[in-house]
Amino acid sequence: MNYFQEIDFPNFDQSHKELIEYFNIVHPDITTVVDFFSFPSFEKFLSICPTTNAGFKEMGLNLKGVFMITVLPDTNSNIHIDGSPHPCRLQWPIINSHSVETLWYNIDPSYQIREMLPNGVEYISYKTGDYVPVARKNITGPTVIRVEEPHAIRRLSDINSDFPRIAFSFAFDESLEDFLK
Ligand SMILES: [Fe+2]
Repeated sequence: MNYFQEIDFPNFDQSHKELIEYFNIVHPDITTVVDFFSFPSFEKFLSICPTTNAGFKEMGLNLKGVFMITVLPDTNSNIHIDGSPHPCRLQWPIINSHSVETLWYNIDPSYQIREMLPNGVEYISYKTGDYVPVARKNITGPTVIRVEEPHAIRRLSDINSDFPRIAFSFAFDESLEDFLK
């Protein structure tokens, strides 16, 4: 099974520039970004990132949601499965991409811990154990990743100024699994 695939995105330079502008508009002060998972404005994405959105369409993808993932020096690095109806998402790092790698594991479901978050989303993590990753990737560009398989982050830096590491995470009507064949 492939767990990730980096994408050769159409008009990457302009699309990346738009995403950085979008980030700077929704978060003018980077020190205020503290939530691991957040939901920046979809309308602002559409108005500020027309080239990025055109790239999705060119790839045959219909954008459904924009999320933002923020890793701070003390962010939880549990092995987990995302509470998402999408088996895969497109992750696009924009700040400090060198600071974190993503690891995937093959773990028996009997090790799962299922909890309900206050927002009603189920969060599935795994009991601590001596698990060996089956795949790992320092994601530095737009990359389709599996989020319905057990995964975790690992910090590659101990330096505070290498954080936050911020990435957008895009969900589509399409499953994206074709990119992982
Ligand atoms: Fe995740």
